[in-house]
Amino acid sequence: MDCPQNARRLALSSNNLFFLLLLLSSNLLTLFISTTFYSPCSLQKPQLKLPTTTTPPSPPPPTPEKVSDVDSEEDTSSTNLPSEFIAFTSPQQLPLGFNKNFDSDEIFPPVGRPCTIFQDELRRYMNYEINGSCPDDELLSQKLLLRGCEPLPRRRCRPAAPKDYTEPYPLPDSLWTTPPDSSVVWTAYTCKNYSCLINRSRNQKGFDDCKDCFDLNGREKDRWTSKSDSDLDFSIDDVLNAVKPGTIRIGLDLGGGVATFAVRMRKRNITILTTSMNLNGPFNSFIASRGVVPLYLSISQRLPFFDNTLDIVHSMHVLSNWIPIKLLHFLIFDIYRVLRPGGLFWLDHFFCVGDQFEMEYKPLIESVGFNKVKWVVGRKLDRGPELNEMYLSALLEKPLKNSW
Ligand SMILES: *[C@@H]1O[C@H](CO)[C@@H](O)[C@H](O)[C@H]1NC(C)=O
Ligand SMILES: *[C@@H]1O[C@H](CO)[C@@H](O)[C@H](O)[C@H]1NC(C)=O
Ligand SMILES: *[C@@H]1O[C@H](CO)[C@@H](O)[C@H](O)[C@H]1NC(C)=O
Ligand SMILES: *[C@@H]1O[C@H](CO)[C@@H](O)[C@H](O)[C@H]1NC(C)=O
Repeated sequence: MDCPQNARRLALSSNNLFFLLLLLSSNLLTLFISTTFYSPCSLQKPQLKLPTTTTPPSPPPPTPEKVSDVDSEEDTSSTNLPSEFIAFTSPQQLPLGFNKNFDSDEIFPPVGRPCTIFQDELRRYMNYEINGSCPDDELLSQKLLLRGCEPLPRRRCRPAAPKDYTEPYPLPDSLWTTPPDSSVVWTAYTCKNYSCLINRSRNQKGFDDCKDCFDLNGREKDRWTSKSDSDLDFSIDDVLNAVKPGTIRIGLDLGGGVATFAVRMRKRNITILTTSMNLNGPFNSFIASRGVVPLYLSISQRLPFFDNTLDIVHSMHVLSNWIPIKLLHFLIFDIYRVLRPGGLFWLDHFFCVGDQFEMEYKPLIESVGFNKVKWVVGRKLDRGPELNEMYLSALLEKPLKNSW
């Protein structure tokens, strides 16, 4: 219930706040250095103050049975659902009949439950010619997804693609080379080429998520190497040296910007998948062009891995106090779930305001069951000490024995 409610609240908040939340929902690599933008810590308050009493009751999402029941009487909430949405989500008979694994003879293709709350957007999203070209509507799809319509419904149309697509550079050059502009559909972004994205930290005012990330010769070059003096900046080598050599092989970087973490790990023969949104930049295309795997997944979605499987989960700047605390609680447990016993959770620069840390976040993180390998709390001073902002960088280990 909580996710739809939160999504609903997001939808009702002012445009500005929603826009900020959009910006903050992934790839927050460079947030802390942006001085023109107020910190997500300061977003906490308006977010908490959002009136719950004025929230009109949301129409209950129709049950799949109801949706499928197109011929009989429908309630008003399902009459407005687009026919392609109904076509996709309606139960479908398994052609070979009852299946023991399913324990059923039918299948209900899934979508995020809140999809049906955002009917206007959903109608536009599902409005296309079957077997034809999809609308070029990345912003609309992403907005739906971020609000909780995740997974998005599948569509029976071909997605927008560059007219003169250029193939990626071969490995290993692709890892550190700016990809061709013609590998991207630029419609959704302010910049219309990579040169503009690379320059924007110098030339453009205002906040953009991961603003300087596309410049592979800038800050990206030194991230997670041993070049920093700050105790909060662990290097990849420090982290890997904390465990038996060779035991970290596969993992996930949550909200990993342009996937420089995955690229560095690849050098060490470690396979990392990187989740990222496309917040005013073609993050997913860029990551793929570099030659590592992007996962287009928000922080709300259950991680698509089985229990006890990954060796490492890393997350920098994304897990922070902009996330509703209950959602964060579920999320950290989901990270614990997918890590194998002995697996590492590298919580890199979690940030919040001082009191929140002691009162809420520290007990929450400690309650999940990780062992602390490293735990460094530091002041975040870029916007002035009076704001009492904090960082936590932690290396946490799922217990090898008795982790259940
Ligand atoms: C789309 O293609 C399928 C497969 O050929 C066909 O059965 C269907 O009628 C087509 N739908 C439309 C609306 O053209
Ligand atoms: C890139 O886009 C900017 C404007 O955003 C434009 O001024 C510039 O000429 C473009 N550069 C290339 C190489 O297309
Ligand atoms: C980006 O900066 C470089 C060097 O400063 C310049 O040559 C290029 O034209 C700029 N590109 C855009 C799109 O502004
Ligand atoms: C990675 O794997 C390749 C091929 O198996 C091997 O040659 C190379 O030494 C490995 N690199 C590291 C850092 O282990």
